[in-house]
Amino acid sequence: MIHYSNRIAASVEPTPWSLSVEAAREAGEIRFDLTESNPTRAGLVPSPEDAAAICQALGDPRALAYEPHPKGMPSARRAIAAHYEREHGIEVDPERLWLAASTSELYAQLFMLHCDPGDEVLVAQPSYPLIESIAALTGTRVAHYSLRDYAGAFRHDRAAIEAAITDRTRVLVCVAPNNPTGNALTDEELEAITELCSERSIALIVDEVFAEYALDGARDDARGTTTVVDERCLCWTLAGLSKTAALPQMKLAWAALSGPERVVASAELRFEHVADTFLSASAPVQCAADVLLERTAPVRSSILERLRANLATARRVLSPETGASVLRCEGGWSATLALPAVLTDEAWAERLLRQGVLVQPGFFFDFEQEARVVVSLITEPAVFQRGIEQIAAACREELEE
Ligand SMILES: Cc1ncc(COP(=O)(O)O)c(C=O)c1O
Repeated sequence: MIHYSNRIAASVEPTPWSLSVEAAREAGEIRFDLTESNPTRAGLVPSPEDAAAICQALGDPRALAYEPHPKGMPSARRAIAAHYEREHGIEVDPERLWLAASTSELYAQLFMLHCDPGDEVLVAQPSYPLIESIAALTGTRVAHYSLRDYAGAFRHDRAAIEAAITDRTRVLVCVAPNNPTGNALTDEELEAITELCSERSIALIVDEVFAEYALDGARDDARGTTTVVDERCLCWTLAGLSKTAALPQMKLAWAALSGPERVVASAELRFEHVADTFLSASAPVQCAADVLLERTAPVRSSILERLRANLATARRVLSPETGASVLRCEGGWSATLALPAVLTDEAWAERLLRQGVLVQPGFFFDFEQEARVVVSLITEPAVFQRGIEQIAAACREELEE
């Protein structure tokens, strides 16, 4: 018998929910797909002129020379630093940037750097589900702490994090703004997190892929685009073209390293070995990084406009008499809906699917609260509005019964 690693767990088996969705798709029954998270399928693409400039840059003959560098090409790292300076007035040292094909890959490489088999990565719950798969594939275990729901806004709670830390905790992952709950990091939360990581010698990963999409209602003290630079604990801040340029297929992401000088030096020495083993960022995308970042500025603006418009639509249509509400959303590409607790999240998702509306059930993200579903805010606005109207009608019907 061929052996398969138990790192690949049961997640390869389809779930009853994924089978229902597949059947509905095959039967052409999904009329309002509110889960579209692929910007290139949601009409959020560069103008023909910008697309031509990007394609030309991707054909740069400099890519024909093989000049491997564990951190990635210096020109690409300078282009990323210039982007932060130009668009956000943030200074990033190109020497502190490490490039890879995706943030998923950077997660895996950082888990390899910091964890032995069986060590723990601590992640908020609910949060980005892929972290669990990446951890499993690298032989690492995931432990969770719950985000506290304070008056409709999820927040990281120092006591909850502290209680979840064990002597095997090596990494704390913080997605900010979080997927799917949209909570950004306040200065106070970041302070507590970096203090804890420093005290307990835990490496911090801040996943900022959505930081450029701060939404209305963001708290004044919540961080938008940051590239966290913290002198107290070892911190890797992740972002990439997948969300910054809305071009996930380009496969370029970066980790910005910060922390106390001595720890940074030891991390660099070791990460160089990991990064040099993979060298995963391709030359064409690195050569085109400056053009890709500059020419996608209009797409970033269109996305932000769409996110704000769809969020406003959801708030307007899910009026109080529907018994549903949209949770506070400080940033990112998704919104969480709190539906009337007369059904579970799975039953809600199944019921909506029968009406032709596809949403993501809360269990997919490990929500503790019942009747939460998640919708993608990059959905084409007409589809989004009609889908949300269907949800409002379903809520009214359920409340009447
Ligand atoms: C929080 C978060 N991080 C990272 C990613 C993926 O980024 P990449 O395509 O660079 O792996 C996603 C994708 O949706 C995400 O939601």
